[in-house]
Amino acid sequence: MLDLVVIGGGPGGYVAAIRAAQLGFKVACVDKRGTFGGTCLNVGCIPSKALLDSSEHFHQAQTRFSRHGILVGELKLDLAAMMSRKDRVVRDLTGGVAYLLKKNKIEAITGIARINKPGEVVVQDAGGAERVLACRHILLASGSEPVQIPSLPFDGTHVISSTEALCLDRVPEHLVVVGGGVIGLELGSVWRRLGARVTVVEFLPKILSICDGEIAAQLQKSLEKTGFEFKLGTKVTGRRVEGNQVILEAENRDGKLEIAGDKVLVCVGRRAYTRGLGLESIGIQPDPRTGQIPVDENYQTRVPGIFALGDLTAGPMLAHKAEDEGMAFAERLAGQKSHVDLAAIPNVVYTWPEIASVGPTEEQLQAKGVGYKVGKFQLRANGRAKCMDEDEGLVKVIADPETDRVLAVHIFGPRASDMIAEAVHVIEFKGSSEDIIRISHAHPTLSEGLREAAMAVHGRAIHA
Ligand code: FAD
Ligand code: NAI
Repeated sequence: MLDLVVIGGGPGGYVAAIRAAQLGFKVACVDKRGTFGGTCLNVGCIPSKALLDSSEHFHQAQTRFSRHGILVGELKLDLAAMMSRKDRVVRDLTGGVAYLLKKNKIEAITGIARINKPGEVVVQDAGGAERVLACRHILLASGSEPVQIPSLPFDGTHVISSTEALCLDRVPEHLVVVGGGVIGLELGSVWRRLGARVTVVEFLPKILSICDGEIAAQLQKSLEKTGFEFKLGTKVTGRRVEGNQVILEAENRDGKLEIAGDKVLVCVGRRAYTRGLGLESIGIQPDPRTGQIPVDENYQTRVPGIFALGDLTAGPMLAHKAEDEGMAFAERLAGQKSHVDLAAIPNVVYTWPEIASVGPTEEQLQAKGVGYKVGKFQLRANGRAKCMDEDEGLVKVIADPETDRVLAVHIFGPRASDMIAEAVHVIEFKGSSEDIIRISHAHPTLSEGLREAAMAVHGRAIHA
């Protein structure tokens, strides 16, 4: 008898499995993919960041090296080599997860899992053979899938999801991106840098609606400078295929329009994936709108002994949120009182410059009528940013006007993804903007920008 069967080997599932094994539970982890690591390692975070890094090198060599006095002659793209490197990164990391499962004596099973009844999971392998796993607890960590637009269904060739956009064998001439959210801007950046014309069609009047408005507007301007085109406030109504072109039919306040492209990437959000898990038969009903499964503070569903986390449950659909929950779930199963503060989960958009944030936006605070003070610092006055020739960016610290406690930090700039870690610590430790000011920051570093923004909260920035 197993203590725990985990369905799904993504960052939520495999981390929960490892932490549970560390705590002495006998664990099996089932995934239907041939490799572990879930969406994140196979077709999400990792391959997208590998291509973002490669394409950014290409773009830098093309447009910025000469400013550093480096002349490279004719630059050529070897897309096949770039894709192989990305595949190698994925292979190394997914292989690493398989190794970790083995090292922790977790039985890693490849197959499609479904719950027969509480305490019983059936796994079907590729040949159709079934195996029954008896267990005390079941963790659902089956992740999410892309949302489909009914008038623009995926066909895998012309109308594609992020999965296909991560392995195209040639640079599209014109990539039309439907959805100006995080996937659209990240994968749009990859293909724009490699030479594609990129048009983003967004339903709302602005891109990245969950981000700070001022910062999202700065990113939009920056992307426009690199050639991105935006059609905001535009609704897709249909499509037709003519030869190797997809003609996207849309409308906005100026009337109807058509946009022709050779690839249309649809990325309008993701939805929890619960198909085939057998939930109906055991009385678990996903939320009809989001598909997500309600859970209590122990990650338990309404059925005792059956738990869920990661993209399957409420909160941001992020790998680190899934991992944090994986650890907290296992520790709670062992009787510990761990918890995850969803309000302190950082969010990063890996464009260049990057956006990284933690805590509410000014718009969200205003909508709630919460008072705040804000300090801003432009990165063009930061020494390291100047040395890097990367001085586009803004750091914003938002603090409570009474207590000075830091409520949020929003960063637009190079390596904002690394800078945000300090802000997350301050927020988790309930620190103030004065705390950030009093802590020594190495010079010259981008992190000095955070300190300057904290000083600006009190109107005493030194370098602004
Ligand atoms: P998943 O990683 O989706 O894992 C679920 C696993 O369950 C899958 O491997 C699936 O095969 C398996 N499964 C499903 N049903 C069954 C079944 N019945 N039987 C067996 N196995 C099953 N997040 C970030 O934090 N940073 C990023 O940079 C980032 N980039 C992304 C880029 C892209 C293009 C995409 C699509 C997503 C990105 N994400 C990113 C989101 C991140 O990938 C997810 O939030 C994360 O993977 C969720 O983890 P999870 O464990 O809940 O589910
Ligand atoms: P998203 O929610 O980030 O953005 C979707 C966008 O599509 C929104 O701006 C929305 O207004 C727009 N939209 C919705 N319906 C539309 C329509 N019919 N026509 C035009 N626009 C429409 O979703 P996305 O980009 O698909 O990413 C899904 C999730 O994956 C993210 O929310 C995030 O959780 C995760 N992810 C995280 C990454 C990171 O952390 N860097 C990177 C990639 C994905």
